[in-house]
Amino acid sequence: MSNAKPVGVFDSGVGGLTVVKEMLAAVPNEHIVYFGDTARVPYGTKSARVVREFALQDAQILLKHDVKMIVVACHTATSMAMDVLTERFDLPIIGVVEPGIKAALEATKNGKVGVIGTRSTISSGTYPKLLAEANSEIEVFPQACPLFVPLAEEGWLDHDITKQVAHIYLGSFQEYQVDTIILGCTHYPLLKPLLNQVLGPSITLIDSAEETAKAVQLMLSKHALLADSSQRARHRYLVSDIPHQFRQIGEQFLGQQLESLSQVDIDSLIQTV
Ligand code: DGL
Repeated sequence: MSNAKPVGVFDSGVGGLTVVKEMLAAVPNEHIVYFGDTARVPYGTKSARVVREFALQDAQILLKHDVKMIVVACHTATSMAMDVLTERFDLPIIGVVEPGIKAALEATKNGKVGVIGTRSTISSGTYPKLLAEANSEIEVFPQACPLFVPLAEEGWLDHDITKQVAHIYLGSFQEYQVDTIILGCTHYPLLKPLLNQVLGPSITLIDSAEETAKAVQLMLSKHALLADSSQRARHRYLVSDIPHQFRQIGEQFLGQQLESLSQVDIDSLIQTV
C-alpha cells in the first residue's frame, strides 16, 4: 500500500532543514511540507508554556496541508511539547530526541554521554530522564550552548569566534571523559566539522538529524504510509516571516535550492488552538 500525502516537518526556524536534508536521502519519494516559525524563533529561550502553545499551532498549520505524519524537527519543541502533541493529534508524530538517544546508547563504550542544546532543551531535563530510563548506568553531562544558534544562523561555521565559543562550552567534556556527545539542537549539525576539530577524534558526535530521518523511514513503513516509489516528490517550505537573507541561510542548511517558499499567516490560528 502507498500513500501520496505529504510528511509534515516543523521547527522554530531554519534549523529543521538539517533534518529535511537527511530525509531527502532517507525517504526520497516523500512529498514534504516544512513549516519554520521564523517570526517567533528562537524557541530555545522561551518557557515551556509558550513552546507548547507554539508547537500545537505549528502542528495545526501542517494539518491544514493534510499531512500523514508530523516530524518535530526541533529539540526544544520535542523536549517540551511531545506529550501535548501526541495527546492532541491522532497521526504518527516523531521527535528528534529519541532517535539521538538510541544512537548514543549504541555508540558509547564507557557510558559517559554529553548532551548539548538550547537553554530550554537542557533545562527541561528530557535527555537525562530518557537516557536514564533507557539505561540507568549511563552518566549524562548536559551543557547549554545558547550562542551556537545565532552563530550558525550568521553562517560562522568555521569562524575563530565560533571556535573560541566552542572551547568555552565544551572544555569540560574532555575532563569528564565523555566518549559520545548528542547534538541536541537541529542547528548544530552545521557546526559538526568545527565541533569535531575542537573535541578531537576520541569523542563521537551523534547527529540527530541523520538518526531522525532513519526513524521517519521506519515509522512510515510500520504504518504502511510510504509513498509510491514512482512519484516525483514535491517539497514546500512555509515560514511565518521571510527575514533578510532567509533564502540564502535556508539553502545553506538544506544544501540545495528552496523550490517553493511562501509565508503563512499564523495570527489566524492563534485564537483557534
Ligand atoms: N532548532 C531549535 C532546536 O532544535 C533551536 C533554535 C531555537 O532556539 O529556536 O532546539
